[in-house]
Amino acid sequence: MALPFVPEAEIVRLGAEAERCNGMLQEGTGAGADFLGWVSLPSSIDGAMLERVDEVARRLRQLASVVVVIGIGGSYLGARAVQEALGDPFAGLGGAQGTQVVYAGQNLSPDYLSSLLRAVSDRSLALIVVSKSGTTTEPAVAFRILREEIVRRYGVRGARERIVAVTDRARGALKKMADEQGYDTFVIPDDVGGRYSVLTPVGLLPLAVAGVDVAALVEGAQAAERAMGAEVPFAGNPALQYAAVRNALYRKGYKVELFGSYEPALRDVGEWWKQLYGESEGKQGRGIFPASVTFTTDLHSMGQYIQEGERMLFETIVSIEAPHTDVTVQAEADDADGLNFLAGRRLSEVNRTAENGVALAHCDGGVPNLRVTLPRVDAYEIGWLLYFFERACGVSGYLLGVNPFDQPGVEAYKKNMFALLGKPGYEAEGERLHERLRDMGRE
Ligand code: PA5
Repeated sequence: MALPFVPEAEIVRLGAEAERCNGMLQEGTGAGADFLGWVSLPSSIDGAMLERVDEVARRLRQLASVVVVIGIGGSYLGARAVQEALGDPFAGLGGAQGTQVVYAGQNLSPDYLSSLLRAVSDRSLALIVVSKSGTTTEPAVAFRILREEIVRRYGVRGARERIVAVTDRARGALKKMADEQGYDTFVIPDDVGGRYSVLTPVGLLPLAVAGVDVAALVEGAQAAERAMGAEVPFAGNPALQYAAVRNALYRKGYKVELFGSYEPALRDVGEWWKQLYGESEGKQGRGIFPASVTFTTDLHSMGQYIQEGERMLFETIVSIEAPHTDVTVQAEADDADGLNFLAGRRLSEVNRTAENGVALAHCDGGVPNLRVTLPRVDAYEIGWLLYFFERACGVSGYLLGVNPFDQPGVEAYKKNMFALLGKPGYEAEGERLHERLRDMGRE
């Protein structure tokens, strides 16, 4: 339901542009061409790589009841999104069997890390540390602390079989340390940036440990790669259609995009999507601001704003055709809660009706809504969805006129943090920043 908001001719015009941009992705003729390894990544994944992932994952599962995945940004969001989408939200209540995968190094909170250390104090432990650069502060700090815990418990030799590093082929402190200590390593290809890396061992190894069918995930992504290549024209290419429509809306003043779903399992796919689009497009004073909601939950918190607040929003809803299981509403003799009008109806029907009702209401309220439909939530479909969003993001960034594969803005906070913490080489800048903080009364 975008057509009432943008003229069809504009979408057709941007569709032709999108075809050209998709060609640039395939040919490597656009900005950031050194980082296009993800474009043909699914079709280049071979059996040997999947076997090695499986072999190491099996070893970690045998050794540990908890595997901590250490990483931040593109080095953890993809794995967590897929794990959450395919996992059982209440597994913990049933006294989860098997190895649990949890995350660290995605913040600097002492409370978070202390809780984690407490929670795993009587559990067998292994680590997967993921950092392409090998120098990112948050995961490096968490790795130092958790590595010490592993060495304390299992000794240097025991640590060797319980720690796996996923990092750059040659550079960075993590690669050096992994080689020196004899940790198993997986390589993040040079030409795949963090936020496009979920289908490398960055995502595949933690997911294999979590019990996800990574072969099916890759197959889904391979199908998407075939369906969205440069040879597939706009009319049959969902990535181009999405990229063109969102850019048409942006040019009409719709500057905020809400990713949403009526399945709470997809909440972390929204987190992954926000990084993908935010970091790829938000530069040079441009870019759609990516936000996310889970419906119907957030209709009771964000619904008012979406319906009647400033008109700058559009929505992209990932719509699931069939749940894995269903629940039927029973009739009650006294109908005390007045719900007998739903008796005998399935919850999936009620959820679908909510989705349709909301789409119409939001459309009437001036919120264009786009819909991406998946038949169900399984590894294959999620693999398809991840590649779809990646491909559309590359095309969309080019339509916007930015390089979707760099992230120069991320450095600003790092520089300040290093200067304020006294990292060697940042002394003069540190003095300047401390003075500013004193002036502000913060120090
Ligand atoms: O997408 C990106 O490039 C970033 O989000 C990085 O993944 C993130 O900053 C972590 O970097 P690294 O993997 O080098 O530790």
